Amino acid sequence: MIGTNALRQPDPLIILTGVMQNAPGLLQHSRDTVSITQRVVDEVPGLGEIKKALILGAYLHDIGKVTWPAELHTKFPLSKYDRKVIEDHPRAGANLLRGIWPDVDPLVLEIVALHHTRPGRRGYPPVEPTYPALVVAACEVFSAMTSFRPYRAGTATAAEAIACIEKWAPAEIAGALKIIATHEALQNSKG
Ligand SMILES: [Fe+2]
Ligand SMILES: [Fe+2]
Repeated sequence: MIGTNALRQPDPLIILTGVMQNAPGLLQHSRDTVSITQRVVDEVPGLGEIKKALILGAYLHDIGKVTWPAELHTKFPLSKYDRKVIEDHPRAGANLLRGIWPDVDPLVLEIVALHHTRPGRRGYPPVEPTYPALVVAACEVFSAMTSFRPYRAGTATAAEAIACIEKWAPAEIAGALKIIATHEALQNSKG
């Protein structure tokens, strides 16, 4: 006879976390993006209603990177084909997520699929972003620009990252990132 434990479905988040370990630096970037998103949600009134989806979307936004060949994570320069693979990671990620977690909140799927879209269709895929996708996009770019990456010579300061982000992010989200960065700088100056 099969025990009830054998019938229990494994938690999709545990599976996804295991999958994310296959991409170098991804778990760190995902956790960093979650912590920034969490703080932005606390700063901006009205985001509380979609908090769960924003946090999950922040954690899983780059899951599509696990489909990349290992060398692509650090490769430079990139070929035309490499760029195609890279620009496909939001779509690949949403597909992967849907496969592992069929009843995941559709808003989380939307965030994963649209986290590189920008107003005026200037991101990829070339469609208009939705508000939740832009919130996570701002937080993930802040994380990406201010933390060390093996293929980039230096990291940006928080002010440089925010100057970039405020060109396309909703004003209240860029404003929240400024408050968070100022608070962080104050904390650091206290040693
Ligand atoms: Fe991404
Ligand atoms: Fe990212």
